[in-house]
Amino acid sequence: MRKDRGALLESKALVQLTTIGRSGRHLVGREPPKDGRDYAAGGFEGLIDALLGIFNPAGGHPIDWANVVARGQSMAFTVTYILLLGAALFHGLYGLRNILFELDPAPPLKKALSWVLILVGVGLFIFGTWAAWVGHQVASLT
Ligand code: HEM
Repeated sequence: MRKDRGALLESKALVQLTTIGRSGRHLVGREPPKDGRDYAAGGFEGLIDALLGIFNPAGGHPIDWANVVARGQSMAFTVTYILLLGAALFHGLYGLRNILFELDPAPPLKKALSWVLILVGVGLFIFGTWAAWVGHQVASLT
């Protein structure tokens, strides 16, 4: 039951997204748009509100513990963390490899360096994936 909360909050944010531009109701505490300029501004701010709302499912400040937990409960966030981890590790370590290769090391050293970076990357990916998964499990208990 609790597990579905993150998904529910995400779908709420998506519903908010689909209503943008049609009304000003998403702008809590503001007047609805009256003319074209208001409407455009309301639509844009509403779009930003809804987009940021996806990262802020429990309201309040994005790094409030309630938000960290709510994002942790969401499978979509958990999968995204793991995909971003893989992309960032590949990018960072491949960039580092390019920098080190500019020093023109001997071919066997290049090969050893590549293997070390691959092992570091795979190791950190496994560790990070485990951490993201455990985080998801623990958040789902609360
Ligand atoms: C959204 C985030 C990021 C973007 C858009 C980004 C973009 C880029 C781009 C465009 C380059 C090529 C620069 C060039 O060739 O002149 C680059 C290189 C590099 N990036 Fe990133 N990067 C990001 C995050 C990171 C992170 C988090 C790390 C490390 C943990 C990192 C490590 C590196 C390294 C080591 C290079 C190679 C630098 C070089 O060849 O001189 N990047 N990045």
